[in-house]
Amino acid sequence: MAEAITYKGRILNPISPNEFEDIIDGAIIVQNGKIVRYGRFNDINARGTLVDFGDKIVIPGMIDTHVHLPQYDMVAMDGYELLDWLSHYIFPAEKRFESPKVAQEAARRFFEDMQANGTTTACIYNTVHKDATERAFEEAERSGLRVFMGKVMMDQNCPDFLREKTSESLETSELLCKAWHGKDGGRLNYVFTPRFAPTCSRELMKGASKLAKKHSAYIQTHLSENRGELNLVKTLFPESKNYTDVYEKAGLLTPRTIMAHCIYLDEPELLILKNYSTKISHCPSSNFFLKSGIFDIGKITAAGLDVGLGSDVGGGPNLSLFREMANASNMSKVNYILSRGNSKVIDPTFAFYLATLGGAKVLGIENVVGNFSPGKEADFVVVDGAAIDPLRSNRKRTGNEILSQMIHRASEETVIATYVRGTRVYQK
Ligand code: GUN
Ligand code: ZN
Repeated sequence: MAEAITYKGRILNPISPNEFEDIIDGAIIVQNGKIVRYGRFNDINARGTLVDFGDKIVIPGMIDTHVHLPQYDMVAMDGYELLDWLSHYIFPAEKRFESPKVAQEAARRFFEDMQANGTTTACIYNTVHKDATERAFEEAERSGLRVFMGKVMMDQNCPDFLREKTSESLETSELLCKAWHGKDGGRLNYVFTPRFAPTCSRELMKGASKLAKKHSAYIQTHLSENRGELNLVKTLFPESKNYTDVYEKAGLLTPRTIMAHCIYLDEPELLILKNYSTKISHCPSSNFFLKSGIFDIGKITAAGLDVGLGSDVGGGPNLSLFREMANASNMSKVNYILSRGNSKVIDPTFAFYLATLGGAKVLGIENVVGNFSPGKEADFVVVDGAAIDPLRSNRKRTGNEILSQMIHRASEETVIATYVRGTRVYQK
């Protein structure tokens, strides 16, 4: 039994989309990487070493449910919508990952920056390259972060320099899955990653579905992000009723499938997704940046779908989940304005849930991380609340006030330390 450590600070703990706990002078007791107890320091019977963060805020590690590692070097390149942006910036950037050395260096920087941003779990796309994905998994293993990741699969409608043979794409994906899925007690996971319907043959998508089911692995792809993309899907898959139907026919809808964006879904499509308990990643920064559209959170939650947040770097210009919380809130306000007050607004409590426990649910790990319930693994982030507050002290603020300020004003600059399984992976 390792010695227990008691971490003291102001704890903000998400409970549900409309509830969180605020514990001033709170504490969390961690032993063997797991949470033993949390509560008020004076009530909790603290033991072992004490690490006192004073009035600093302690929140659960944040969860990025959709992000592209190889696009990090090409973030914030403005000027295009999705399809032209892919051709102009992204496919050439992904070509560079032919070199395992380029891939490894990029992966190392990517995971370092993720830690510095307080992200402890991420669901990641790599490129089509096997070796690059292998290097990225090695770096993920070293980083200590919780990583869900896969090699992109593409066998049509993309540049020659990235196009794969269908059988090779399936074979290399399965090899990577066998090597990495479930490694280190489930910290690393494999995600079959058919990029999106336009760049995947029916055969490739069906094959990916079979393999994911065979290995109880995850699946991720993009759905209904941009109007140009929707037209392309209609042309390429005329037999399908709608975009979601393309994926249903291919067998890609499962409870372990994460669909990014989901902006233009109609009611029948929402019902299909619900029937399969398929999960959704909302990527507001990307949707603004690429002028893709306005996601309606009310529509998604009314359909009973689980949703988390994604930075979608490089579509989104930043790795910070604080930015995603702020932009999710702001995007819901755009909807509110356009609907003259007839749509759901994401308040700070809901935004906080989406970046933590909601994200955990999307990845099926809500019993492992997402908040500070005893028995869960101790992933947490220490945030300098005073640095965010013009008063330079958050002690006088209510929990609601602190949460609101954190969501709209915190950044990488205000992350003090990041822990995964009770191990510090980053310190400012
Ligand atoms: N759709 C297909 N590929 C991509 C990608 O790389 N980024 C985004 N945002 N959408 C996509
Ligand atoms: Zn994406």
